[in-house]
Amino acid sequence: MLPRSILAGCGGYLPERIVTNDELSRTVDTSDEWIRDRTGIRQRHFASKHETTAFMGTAAARAALADAGATAADVDAIILATSTPDQAFPATALRVQAELGVTKGFGFDLSAACAGFIYGLSVADGMIRSGQARGVLVIGSEVYSRILNWQDRGTCVLFGDGAGAVFVRAANAEDDDRRGVLSTHIHAQGTLGDILYVDGAVGQPDKPGHLVMHGREVFRHAVTRLAEAVEEALAANGMTHADIDWLVPHQANRRIIDAMGKKLGLPPERVVVTVDRHANTSAASVPLALAEARADGRIKSGDLVLLEALGGGLTWGSALVRL
Ligand code: UT7
Repeated sequence: MLPRSILAGCGGYLPERIVTNDELSRTVDTSDEWIRDRTGIRQRHFASKHETTAFMGTAAARAALADAGATAADVDAIILATSTPDQAFPATALRVQAELGVTKGFGFDLSAACAGFIYGLSVADGMIRSGQARGVLVIGSEVYSRILNWQDRGTCVLFGDGAGAVFVRAANAEDDDRRGVLSTHIHAQGTLGDILYVDGAVGQPDKPGHLVMHGREVFRHAVTRLAEAVEEALAANGMTHADIDWLVPHQANRRIIDAMGKKLGLPPERVVVTVDRHANTSAASVPLALAEARADGRIKSGDLVLLEALGGGLTWGSALVRL
């Protein structure tokens, strides 16, 4: 029988520098009140020069391995979801591989914006189920502070930097057979590519690129698509809203998170929220939130956790995991 994959450990890293809304409003035409009311964000972390995507991803990966009781020798593959890689190549995943001292297997970066971690988990799960790998690090690591347009108050107040990671491994004979990644569903709609994008890239002369977002449109799609993704995950597993112990949503906007919690009939204390302190860390947001709620003891082994995210592309998806 082919193995299921077990989400064995989580970890996170946040840059040392914290920037409050009040601090931002000294240089951007905004206010703490506007940012809190519209998004729930109070502060975000911004990376300093040495806190690169690889540096933060490595720190989060180390924490995930330690949480899983695993070592570099257990890692066959590294999937690093990011929209802000350190270099066009080599893949940031391979900088992490070198830093961790992993000397076998393979790794690559994955570009699916804010849904990148869910995409990465889906790919890792497929690789483990097919026997291609037995131990996979899935990392989301981002330095959005380096692609923000500081003249655009509609976007520059929304994002933060950070990294989150999980270690996923093939189930063994000792594992409870209800445990593991029960399902992943990923989607994309390229025709909506112009509502959230970066207007440049390494390959474009003199145009490293800044983030552009049509917030209201993205908001509208987020509410609809994420609700569909949740129902799809539950239907695929023959489950209902009542089976879910925890929702760990993408942390873009408190209003979207609250709407999703309500739709699922979950009390607010069963929805993990970090957007107030981290802002939107894109591919890092879901694994960072998961790592926080695992580390502080809220999410326990055996709990059923629903993960979901939506981002530029559009990309979106869900994962249902019993820890
Ligand atoms: O991670 C990927 C997924 N991303 C998302 O899910 C984000 C989805 N979108 C959103 O969260 C919301 O659309 C935003 C938080 C981005 C914006 O909230 P909104 O309620 O849609 O505001 P808006 O963009 O329609 O702007 C409303 C007003 C405008 O003023 P007028 O035209 O009504 O006079 C803006 O100029 O708020 C103004 N505004 C600001 N005011 C103070 C926009 N940004 C700011 C700001 N500070 N930072």
